[in-house]
Amino acid sequence: MSNEWNLAPAAESTSSAEIKERYELFINGEWQAPSDGNYFETISPASEESLAQVAAAGQKDVDRAFEAANAAFKPWSALPAAERGKYIYRIARMIQERSRELAVVESLDGGKPIRESRDIDVPLAAAHFFYYAGWADKLEYAFPQRDPKPLGVAAQIIPWNFPLLMAAWKIAPALACGNTVVLKPAETTPLTALKLAEIIKDAGLPPGVVNIITGAGETGAMMTAHKIPKKLAFTGSTDVGKMIYKAALQGNKKVTLELGGKAANIIFDDAPIEAAVEGIINGIYFNQGHVCCAGSRLFVQESVYDQVLMKLKRRMDQLVVGDPLDKNTDIGAINSKSQLQTIEEYLEVGRAEGSEIYQPECELPEIGYWCRPTLFTNVAQSNRIAQEEIFGPVLAIQTFRTIEEVIDKANNTPYGLSAGVWTDKGSKIFQLTKAMKAGVVWANTFNKFDPTSPFGGYKESGFGREGGIHGLSAYLDF
Ligand code: NAI
Ligand code: MG
Repeated sequence: MSNEWNLAPAAESTSSAEIKERYELFINGEWQAPSDGNYFETISPASEESLAQVAAAGQKDVDRAFEAANAAFKPWSALPAAERGKYIYRIARMIQERSRELAVVESLDGGKPIRESRDIDVPLAAAHFFYYAGWADKLEYAFPQRDPKPLGVAAQIIPWNFPLLMAAWKIAPALACGNTVVLKPAETTPLTALKLAEIIKDAGLPPGVVNIITGAGETGAMMTAHKIPKKLAFTGSTDVGKMIYKAALQGNKKVTLELGGKAANIIFDDAPIEAAVEGIINGIYFNQGHVCCAGSRLFVQESVYDQVLMKLKRRMDQLVVGDPLDKNTDIGAINSKSQLQTIEEYLEVGRAEGSEIYQPECELPEIGYWCRPTLFTNVAQSNRIAQEEIFGPVLAIQTFRTIEEVIDKANNTPYGLSAGVWTDKGSKIFQLTKAMKAGVVWANTFNKFDPTSPFGGYKESGFGREGGIHGLSAYLDF
């Protein structure tokens, strides 16, 4: 039975969310119309209604944005570092001041539950600016005797799953190190990055230090092929990541890539089972499973398998799927029609491969893009649903007997971004974290983020780290 809480609707008001009919490009501190006069629409995936027209940047606009960033680089990098820090602190505080509006717009444009945008995306975005603001005048202490220097202009391309947060991850360390940037949000979720441009303008940042341009993959490709940027930073699909890596090699640019994942979440029989079940839910259903580090492969030790599965299904039955702006919602709208199609194809693949599917019988709204929380049992290691990133609320469950067996199975993936382990024994945690080929391993928790902590992957999950001191070194020359 779904929604057995019988919760009354608790919709967040949209009155704080002023969305303009049309957004131009933010270049050189001004809103500039796209030179070809092209615009595209961004919609709400929950209502399929149009939210705004957004400029599509063409080659001339991309040129203008990089020229502005290039001209701004010398004076910006020459500012006393503490002054740079002040601007970044100001951005952090203004994000906090406008947090309600940013959370509402994030949920409208991308479909994620307001509870998540309000409690996770927006506060963490502010936290990243606060954290890196503090480093701006302490780089020589972060890297003693290494004389760190900024790289120049950075081209930054971000995805649609954490739009404002990814903009913060990219912009904050770049500015703290004295670089200037041209950033492009994803085409389905441009609005919070454009709100961030408003904040940056209001914060009085010198023109050209941050330029935010909008457009689809074509615009992104123009950015990575451009002569001016010295650094390419990308979060998104592994396929596009590989193209960007090529562009970086051809243009002799530095590059960091944060790509896909297929994380193992491992439950031992001595784990606190109730907490582990919450961790499984959070690991795969957080943000509709549109999470590169999602715990999409669950490994349960055989002796507790029946118990875990029973509790997991019972918990899934209680998840509230629906209106992203309702404060009770656990699973919001799938970000786009095309992502929903991808997920639905994988549900068919899973069935065809002989796995058994379970979904709660919750009702879904008629309009919008929705997917019930899903789990598959009877999954083989070689099945596509156990190997490929689905990027939706779909969990593939396998069992194991020994720690050696689960390490082998968990590492049998082309990806290596994250992993989780649930056990009462510290020694098992250490054995596992050492053996896992994953950039981040959570123990008795999952999907925990903090600006002080580096994040990034191995193998097809990319390379380079964001967050912490590691995230600074990605924007410095030594
Ligand atoms: P994508 O990689 O195409 O989009 C990410 C960003 O890259 C967007 O801003 C897009 O406009 C830009 N882009 C697209 N083509 C480009 C090109 N040739 N050059 C430069 N920039 C380009 O991802 P997409 O198609 O939206 O999602 C496909 C799959 O990728 C998802 O199903 C998921 O598996 C994975 N993905 C992983 C993410 C992560 O956080 N690691 C985020 C988004 C998607
Ligand atoms: Mg949208």
